[in-house]
Formats: sequence, C-alpha cells, structure tokens
Amino acid sequence: MSLLFTPRAVGPLTLRNRIVIAPMCQYSAVDGVPQPWHVQHIGRLALSGAGLVIIEATGVEAAGRISWADTGLWNDEQEAAFARIIRDIRTYSDTPIGVQLAHAGRKASTNPPWIDRGGPAPSDKAWETFSASAQPYRDDWHTPTALDQAGMDRVVAAFVDAATRADRAGFDLVELHAAHGYLLTQFLSPLSNERTDEFGGPLENRMRFPLRVAQALRDAWPRAKALGARFNGSDWTEGGITPDEAAVFGRALHDMGYDYLHLTSGGNVASARIPGDQPGYQVPFAEAVKGAVPEANVMAVGLIVDPHQAEALLAEGKADLVAVARAVLDDPNWGHHAAVALGTAEGLPVQYERAGAEHWPGYAAARSA
Ligand SMILES: Cc1cc2nc3c(=O)[nH]c(=O)nc-3n(C[C@H](O)[C@H](O)[C@H](O)COP(=O)(O)O)c2cc1C
Repeated sequence: MSLLFTPRAVGPLTLRNRIVIAPMCQYSAVDGVPQPWHVQHIGRLALSGAGLVIIEATGVEAAGRISWADTGLWNDEQEAAFARIIRDIRTYSDTPIGVQLAHAGRKASTNPPWIDRGGPAPSDKAWETFSASAQPYRDDWHTPTALDQAGMDRVVAAFVDAATRADRAGFDLVELHAAHGYLLTQFLSPLSNERTDEFGGPLENRMRFPLRVAQALRDAWPRAKALGARFNGSDWTEGGITPDEAAVFGRALHDMGYDYLHLTSGGNVASARIPGDQPGYQVPFAEAVKGAVPEANVMAVGLIVDPHQAEALLAEGKADLVAVARAVLDDPNWGHHAAVALGTAEGLPVQYERAGAEHWPGYAAARSA
C-alpha cells in the first residue's frame, strides 16, 4: 500500500492522499482581484489528483503584495472573486483548497518576474515598503521603513481581516507565509533583522512578531478548518536561520495549534547560493523539524519530481506530506500519474477516464514520449 496515497488528517481536514500543490504566485491579478487565468489555474490544480491545493501568496494588505499583479484579500471585490472561483470548483471537485496569506515586507513593490526580471516597480507603480529594519533586500532596491508598534498592529489586523475573508470565501485552509525572505522571515533571520528592541537579537526576540501574527491568525481562523505555516530551514548564507532555529519556531507553532509545518528555504539573501538542482534539496529541513516535533504534520518541498522519491521520503519518516510545485505545472495530472506509478487507483475525473491507464492503450506510449 502506497504511503503517498494513504489518507492523512491535517487538523480537521482528512486529505485523500499526501500530495499537496505548493503555493505558486501567478502575477496575473488586477488590483489584487483574481482573473480568468486564476479560474483555469486553480480549477486544473483541483483536478490534478493532489489531496490539497494551496494557492498563491495573497497579500493581506496592498503594501504586502510582492508585485502589483499579486492577488490580495483586503477588500470585498477580491473576496467575492475568490468565493466565485471556489463555489464553481465545488461543482466538480471536492479537493480542499487553501490560500497562503502573505506580507512581502521589503520584497514588496516589484514587477512580475517576466517584466524587468521582477525588479523594483517603476515609480508610477511603486509603494512604500516595510520590514524589520530599514535595510534593502539588495543595494539597488528600495529601502523599507522599519515597522514601529503601530505598523506591527496594522499588519496583525490585516492578517486577521484577510483570514476572515478567506473563511467567508470558502477556503478550507490557510497557510501563513513566513518563508522566502518575506516580512516574517525578515524578522526571523538575523541577516535581515538588526533591531535592538524586544523584536531583535536572540531567536526568542526575532520570533516575537511572527508568533504574534501566528497567534492572531490562530485566534481568527476557525478550528473547523486547517491552519499551517511555511517557513525557512535555512537562508543558505552564513549567519542566517539554522534548521535548529526552524525547529524551535516550528515547536512554538505546533504548540499554538498549527496543523502542519511546511519547510522551505532561501529568498532572504539575494546573493545566496541555493543547491536547487539537487533532488529533495530542502528535505533535510523537514527532517530536522520532524525530528524535533515528531507529533507535527511536516510537509517537505523542493525538487520532488518522481512519485517514488516522494514515497521514499515518507517511508523514511522524513516528512508526512509532500508538496510539489513545478512538477504540476509541467504535468497537471501529476497526482493521477503518481497513483498509477505507485500502483493505486488513478482517480481521474469521470469525463477523462477514457484517457486513463486502465482504458487507454496509448497511456504507456504517451509517458515514454
Ligand atoms: C511559478 C512559481 C510561483 C511560486 N510562488 C510561490 C508562492 O506564492 N509562495 C511560496 O511560498 N512559494 C512559491 N513558490 C515556490 C514553490 O511553492 C516551491 O516551494 C518551489 O517551487 C520548490 O518546489 P518544486 O521543486 O516542486 O517546484 C513558487 C514557485 C513557482 C515555480
């Protein structure tokens, strides 16, 4: 029996398998409102065969978007557009759908990656950015304003408001984005946090604001739905976040009632060298947190491409859930194909069953093409 295809409880949700679609920004929103692109994108992910879909980093306030084309959840129009997408998907798929709530901090106010390589937005599109310290992401980037108490209160309230909207829109899960060098990483990492107050210095202080956000989100998000967090196991730079620190942060989140911990890395230091060509390059961070917080549901991600690789890391106890991103852009039926590879029922939508391994003589030839 395949572990990847063994159902798994994540808080109050029971996932039909342990494949999770990792959040992927589409940079295709208008004023934070999802567009027809998102309708087809989220719809096809819901049909991918995964047990859970987490949609893209969605700004909790306008200043918290990475680019001016990011989705947001701070107004009624955005909420209504997401509600429509989920309502329509529910007519053809029961795959749970989550949203990653995010604040980009000093990495906000950019172009989409395909315009000027995602560099700072031009002056007519740029906005003031915020961080732990007034330190730019790169020398040629805008300098953020260090958040003061009132600014922190505003950000916390924005996360709570976005969570309330996400609930009303029909999302089944929220993932707190505390990774990839965005605002909460900027507090967590000593490389971006130079504060001398109670929010800077030792890990206990650097965690203080991220944990405040996490607690407010836990209080706001219904216990009948699932809540998780994504955070870094490493900045891939000397002096940055360590797997041991990630484990301490993970323990705090788990004890707070977070239903899963999603381990990733990088994005906080522009010059970092990330071994992103190594299969499962971030799995050791999941493994470290799983070792320190064995009761938690731990999710691994990062160049996990082959279903047997996914199955093996679960069998070795390195993680409980496997997230995939680019593999599903490459093959939107990745989950169905993984089921065939691991000897489990394919689970295609009935409309597509005639292209399944059991019915279509061309299935094997199509795979080897
Ligand atoms: C197009 C694209 C957009 C992404 N957007 C996000 C995002 O919104 N939030 C996030 O935490 N990670 C984001 N990521 C990172 C992925 O979630 C994932 O961690 C990374 O791609 C490594 O997994 P993979 O090897 O399976 O692609 C994005 C990746 C891609 C390819």
